[in-house]
Amino acid sequence: EENGAKSSLLQYVTRLVCGPPSLTLPGPPSYFLIGNMLELAHDHLPLHLTGLAQRYGSIYRLRCGNTTIVVLSSSEVIREALVKKWSDFAGRPDSYTGNIVSGGGCSISLGDYTEVWRAHRRLVHSALQRCCQKSLHDVIERHALCLMNVLTDYKGTAVDLSEDFTVAASNVITTLTFGKEYDKSSPELQQLHHCLNEIVGLWGSSWISALDSFPLLRKLPNPVFSRLLKEVVRRDDIIQKHLDDYKALSDTHVHMATVDLLIGGTETTAAWLNWTIAFLLHRPEVQSRVHEELSVVLDGQDPKYSDRHKFPALNALVQEVLRLRPVAPLAVPHRAIRDSSIAGYFIPKNTVIIPNLFGAHHDPAVWPDPYSFRPERFLEGQGSTRALVPFGGGARLCLGESVAKMELFLFTAYLLRDFQFVLPEDVPLPDLKGVASVVLKIQPFKVIALPRHRQPS
Ligand code: HEM
Repeated sequence: EENGAKSSLLQYVTRLVCGPPSLTLPGPPSYFLIGNMLELAHDHLPLHLTGLAQRYGSIYRLRCGNTTIVVLSSSEVIREALVKKWSDFAGRPDSYTGNIVSGGGCSISLGDYTEVWRAHRRLVHSALQRCCQKSLHDVIERHALCLMNVLTDYKGTAVDLSEDFTVAASNVITTLTFGKEYDKSSPELQQLHHCLNEIVGLWGSSWISALDSFPLLRKLPNPVFSRLLKEVVRRDDIIQKHLDDYKALSDTHVHMATVDLLIGGTETTAAWLNWTIAFLLHRPEVQSRVHEELSVVLDGQDPKYSDRHKFPALNALVQEVLRLRPVAPLAVPHRAIRDSSIAGYFIPKNTVIIPNLFGAHHDPAVWPDPYSFRPERFLEGQGSTRALVPFGGGARLCLGESVAKMELFLFTAYLLRDFQFVLPEDVPLPDLKGVASVVLKIQPFKVIALPRHRQPS
């Protein structure tokens, strides 16, 4: 709040010195009734919004029904809104469908910025910090070892690893939330993943977002929306069954915090692992370099997160994949809580802000050759880690950032120490464009995990 007050004072002084912020944001022509709905209906929205930034600049507006959406596509404007003026833009838009999937706005990710939300986020954040200090390392290590055993059992056959990555990432989170882990074949796990996947996929579909902008559509039959409602009921049954064991924790907020961690923590980490393997198939020499670094530095020992600074090539790989494929490419929409400004433009209260993290990570002014996979850029001092914003920033910074960073480091260290990932014969290299919904995923692909000489312990 104090920062908020300071930033308001700063804005007031800036306004006195520079005059009022300009009113007209650039943007594509907006049409009667539909506004810019067509711009938002593209199948790879982050890429499309990044293309529009080349025409209209790093801050532009779109209209959708009677809502103005401002898209931010450079790390500079994203930082101005999310970090410098965090208290102006920490809200979430009120949305009909968002309320349905978040138990009436009781989740951390979709809840608006209120006193209750702040207490809620603080509580879950401190619980996660305690885990990070105490047991998280062991939990991740354990699931990295399980994952390696699964890969060893494939005995060098060509397989799609995406499900194994999802199981590993999700077992870290279910160990933290339910104190349980699941076997890949467990019907309970399969049901949970199917349901969470459906919710994330359906909620990103334009059939659903149209309901937010055009209330009249809610009166018409909408089979996609019916499916979403069914999956939300199924999700809540599954979570409730677990929380019934802890009667004291059974209120909607705890329920939704569990949903936040499961949804936020499973698909993201798993998608990132898939991207990493795919990029390494495209540039096998990067894989060799990271493996060599791991062999020399570890010298037979297991990787420890506290030693991460000893692995520059591995860290560069993690950062480059986070840059090229930020798995939450458009973050989660923010809402201006009060009148404010970004880059000198006036932003009225209630404007929806889309931080286009994908766009910021492909900004040619910051990243030379932005579309190429070149982890070495981080070793050569090109591009700035300050401009890397895969977890967002400010009041809405990804709640699982420290969990995710530990997972990405340890999973990758174990996998690349003990396996060589190779492309099966007669199979094309994985397509790197991706499928963008709320999470940016890669199309399924097959890979061979060849055990290195050293067998997993
Ligand atoms: C929110 C990225 C992993 C839990 C977010 C946001 C981004 C993000 C961009 C939106 C920030 C905004 O609204 O400005 C990522 C990436 C991950 C990752 C790139 C891994 C590679 C995780 C994990 C967890 C998690 C492992 C849980 C343990 C959450 C939650 C929110 C969130 C609860 C909502 C925060 C809020 O609205 O205050 N994440 N995330 N994420 N993430 Fe993550």
